[in-house]
Amino acid sequence: MLQDSVQMSECLFFEGLPMPSILTNVETLCFAREEFLVRDDDVIIVSYPRSGTHWIIEILNLIHVNGDPTWIQTVPVFLRSPWIEDAHLQKDLINRNGPRLMVSHLPVQLFPRSYFNCNAKVVYILRNPKDIITSLYHVSRGFVCKKQPENFDEFLNRFIKGDVHYGSWFDHTLGWIKKRDMGSFLLIFYEELQRDPRGSVEKICQFLGKKLKPEEIDLVIRNSSFSAMKENKMSDHFAMDGRMQKVIIAPMLRKGVSGDWKNHFTVAQSEDFDKLFQEKMSRLDPGLFPWF
Ligand code: A3P
Repeated sequence: MLQDSVQMSECLFFEGLPMPSILTNVETLCFAREEFLVRDDDVIIVSYPRSGTHWIIEILNLIHVNGDPTWIQTVPVFLRSPWIEDAHLQKDLINRNGPRLMVSHLPVQLFPRSYFNCNAKVVYILRNPKDIITSLYHVSRGFVCKKQPENFDEFLNRFIKGDVHYGSWFDHTLGWIKKRDMGSFLLIFYEELQRDPRGSVEKICQFLGKKLKPEEIDLVIRNSSFSAMKENKMSDHFAMDGRMQKVIIAPMLRKGVSGDWKNHFTVAQSEDFDKLFQEKMSRLDPGLFPWF
């Protein structure tokens, strides 16, 4: 396994996938998959980067404290809910009392094996990949030590090839969606969160077995809105995490809208991507995705 990994200056290749060496390393990734013990009372947010991960973390954190914003306004997001594959925080997670709320961008094949034999809950957030590409393109342009994308077309091709952190969006999404009938798994769409925040929060509460009063749900929605998160520096992972501060100057919260891809894709790029999407995702019901 270790022989499969090559440390590069910009990223680390682990089992053929480019991983962010700012946050993780081979030892942490091996431990995450082979030895990390997921517990029955854990809740894990899983996503591909730029899918709205930090938004859903904020929502779950607020649900945990009945909408009271004190915790989210005083503790940085990555300490409230650490990433399983984070080299600095994995040990803290192992020793944390439950119930733990954790996060991961790991594709299913690198995820802790122990999860597949326990009753932990996974919330998987999905977003229109065209908006993910757009969002990731802007983040990539904000990296100070990394080769910047030459232009949107070049970045789009890299994304399609899976030549970005955590690899191919198609593989990540297919791998996880195939597991959705297994155990406790909630699929949430970024677009659904925007269209119907109350319905989405109620759905999440039901999944977690948490009963909130209507006014507490109002607080969750208000304190996790784009404007509230933009104002709360504790929500900005890039600004709060010293490792990120050194390498990235882009804001964590950029526009927070659906459909910004229309300002970046040409008609031909959009049509080609739709064709590829249909080919790659043909085994899934197209009605599953709210953006069609
Ligand atoms: P944009 O770059 O399109 O604005 P992740 O947390 O997975 O890295 O995702 C980041 C994306 O989620 C960014 O998208 C960010 O602005 C958006 N986002 C974060 N919080 C949000 C919120 N409360 N409402 C809407 N979008 C949000």
